[in-house]
Amino acid sequence: MRVYFDHNATTPVDPSVLDVMTKVLRQDFGNPSSIHHFGQQAKGVLDDARTAVADLIKAEVSEVVFTSGGTEADNFAIRGVAEAMEVTGRKHLIATAVEHEAVLTTFKALARRGWTTTLLPVDATGIVTPAALEAALTDKTAIVSVMHANNEIGTIQPVEELARIAHSRGALFHTDAVQSVAKIPVDVRGLGADLLSLSAHKFNGPKGAGALWIKRGTRVSAILTGGKHERNRRAGTENVAGIAGLGAAATLAAGKLTAEGARLSTLRDRLETEVLRAIPGTAINGARDRRVPNTTNISFDGVEAESLLIALDLEGIAVSTGSACSSGTLEPSHVLRAMGFPPHRTQNSIRLSLGAGNSDAEVDYFLSKLPAVVGKLRTLTGARR
Ligand SMILES: Cc1ncc(COP(=O)(O)O)c(C=O)c1O
Repeated sequence: MRVYFDHNATTPVDPSVLDVMTKVLRQDFGNPSSIHHFGQQAKGVLDDARTAVADLIKAEVSEVVFTSGGTEADNFAIRGVAEAMEVTGRKHLIATAVEHEAVLTTFKALARRGWTTTLLPVDATGIVTPAALEAALTDKTAIVSVMHANNEIGTIQPVEELARIAHSRGALFHTDAVQSVAKIPVDVRGLGADLLSLSAHKFNGPKGAGALWIKRGTRVSAILTGGKHERNRRAGTENVAGIAGLGAAATLAAGKLTAEGARLSTLRDRLETEVLRAIPGTAINGARDRRVPNTTNISFDGVEAESLLIALDLEGIAVSTGSACSSGTLEPSHVLRAMGFPPHRTQNSIRLSLGAGNSDAEVDYFLSKLPAVVGKLRTLTGARR
């Protein structure tokens, strides 16, 4: 049996999404910028996908700019606003200590080029407090970037309140919603943000396709310059098939959002309850009430997360030690560290992220294997001590 519990890293492409993409690759090969029939066919594909993405996040169609995924969307939002606001003298950027590397590394790059950056702390449950943002904001802050849902622990930030506070000092607000879009209802105007990132491969679409939502009237410089694609906001011939896949995945997700969320949270909660009951020395990391429905992050006393990951993989079960980008290294999770966890807790935690294909039988299989796997690792660790 092979069980995939790593949907926050990526998801399989849904067969219906694949069908749409295959049709586009076969038939709609034109360049969307061409005026002739072939070009207009491809442009129609982009228009349909843009409408589907806008519908999913309750945006206006013209506000959706296609990108190569979440990383580019995050870069575009932060670098684009930083550059557009530079002339106003606003050269301060704020994010949180638990952001994805796409944001954190971009901040480091801009810091090297003269921007001042602040990373907000989080509490022990992974949540940013509005007071921390209030204290960090200045009249020089250009943009505040706070992720909607965290990729490692699934916690949902109080984006509405944080956006209001940022705006009260004239700063723009970006949210990386790569882990929340298509998992929970996202309404861009309700969130009060100015920019929002999303990525198709997190919700059964293809890798290499995503979008940045830019609220109408928001000043953002293009970071990819060239032709007049995407209304002068992102140059480059569009990844038409990938974007078609993004659109199809958005429509698929919109149609089952509530039911699938309820199904996954029931599965996830049962899994958590059973793990806590069956295995002593376990704990759930992060706020349990403010979470996306598919994610759990669990600590196992006396167990090294990497060893657990490998042992579970040998049983056919795929999990993660947190961020996919740091897997394969022994780097402790920056998210758990920011939550104030002691070193042993930042290295004994695994993330399980469920998705469309997962079933009760798979959770049962996992639960049937886990106690022995953990027990064996604990014996080995004990023996080494
Ligand atoms: C919160 C978050 N932001 C951004 C990204 C990057 O998205 P992409 O893989 O589409 O570049 C990810 C992917 O792991 C993510 O989880």
